[in-house]
Amino acid sequence: MSISFNYSNAGLREGELEKVRPVIEAAYNTLKNRTGAGHEMLGWLDLCDTYDKEEFERIKAAAEKIKSQSEVLVAIGIGGSYLGARAGLEYVKGPFYNQLPNKNGVEVYFAGNNISSDYVSYLLDIIGDRDFSVNVISKSGTTTEPAVAFRIFKEKLEEKYGVDGAKERIYATTDANKGALLGLAKEMGYERFVVPDATGGRFSALTAVGLLPMAAGGVDIDEVYRGLTDATRKYENDDMMTNDTTLYAALRYIMMTKGKGVEILADYNPSLTMLGEWYKQLMAESEGKEFKGVFPTAAHFSTDLHSIGQFIQDGARIFFETVLWVEKANKEISVPNDDKDVDGLNFAAGKTLQYMNEKAMNGTLLAHVDGGVPNLIITLDELSDYTFGEVLYFFWKALGISGYALGVNPFDQPGVEAYKKNMFALLGKPGYEDAKAELESRLAKVL
Ligand code: PA5
Repeated sequence: MSISFNYSNAGLREGELEKVRPVIEAAYNTLKNRTGAGHEMLGWLDLCDTYDKEEFERIKAAAEKIKSQSEVLVAIGIGGSYLGARAGLEYVKGPFYNQLPNKNGVEVYFAGNNISSDYVSYLLDIIGDRDFSVNVISKSGTTTEPAVAFRIFKEKLEEKYGVDGAKERIYATTDANKGALLGLAKEMGYERFVVPDATGGRFSALTAVGLLPMAAGGVDIDEVYRGLTDATRKYENDDMMTNDTTLYAALRYIMMTKGKGVEILADYNPSLTMLGEWYKQLMAESEGKEFKGVFPTAAHFSTDLHSIGQFIQDGARIFFETVLWVEKANKEISVPNDDKDVDGLNFAAGKTLQYMNEKAMNGTLLAHVDGGVPNLIITLDELSDYTFGEVLYFFWKALGISGYALGVNPFDQPGVEAYKKNMFALLGKPGYEDAKAELESRLAKVL
């Protein structure tokens, strides 16, 4: 297995883990026995065994078709219909994945995750007159951001290839039985993939939602599933002390009860930046309810040691830090010797950047612990297609236990609807007329 968990720097007092054992083990069993709130949304728990094999093969075939027809794929979606695929591409292929030679895939750009006019027009410039395809991903089919983006890119496709040609380049990932996008996809004959009912948005990255954009971009999704399967088996372990997902959930619970209401997920590798964004959604949408939860944020070191590093070292002691460390670099690069040695760095000549990064991580760990920041460390052997499957499952399972220990339903997201309703009303969507008048009168008083 390629993930390990270390809590020796958490500053635990004698007996603290034992004290939370009953609540954590109860939460573990609630998840395992599918008896808790939201249990109908646990499709991710055994996804490696239950995911539709025929759909998996169709995803691979569709990815090959996209590669044969296009240079670019525009993946349209937001939240759970966006973050996992981008996290996967960057995790496996790095932050420059679109520019890599021999990437065995098309360039994949994401749209529909904002409503910025500038963003869309830059993306249209990037595509230029190159061949492109579109994967529109929305379970509901009515989410404003992706719906607006899909209109724009569908129109471009139809202008370029005609309505029939466009149909060959549009892939719709949506609900199997209902929704506006399903209706359109059926009517137009777009190839369709399913967002399964039992996997909510933030648990859907390893269904067609994330798999198609990742496969089109050159990620080996068979390997991702091998990692997912191994992680599923490994974390089917009832013993809290030898199951890292349960231990991580226990440590998060202890931190919260000690008043550490913020978790900083700190990576030392830009390939993990989007995984940090994915983690923020997973934790925040799952736990931030009923005025409870640990607020998740992400930091990217060593970059952020030169910005928020000051606060982490010396600011208000309201958080704990979870370091996401990668043991092995995919490619080794060494520090060159320099005859002039003006920066005084010749002492490190010949050392690898990975070695230096590790010393930065070790030094930061000790400094932050000295500064009163409890540290947890999640170590990944390496970044690969295989470990991506493992790491998603690691966080899903830990979160499921942690959410039940907190006493919330970790598998719904009622709060996300509030802004959507207000925005629909203010935009004048039919059916929201009364709300519109009330919201406009409130805004008139405050803006
Ligand atoms: O986790 C969630 O449920 C949300 O982030 C959704 O994925 C997001 O709002 C997009 O919804 P939809 O796929 O219906 O467009």
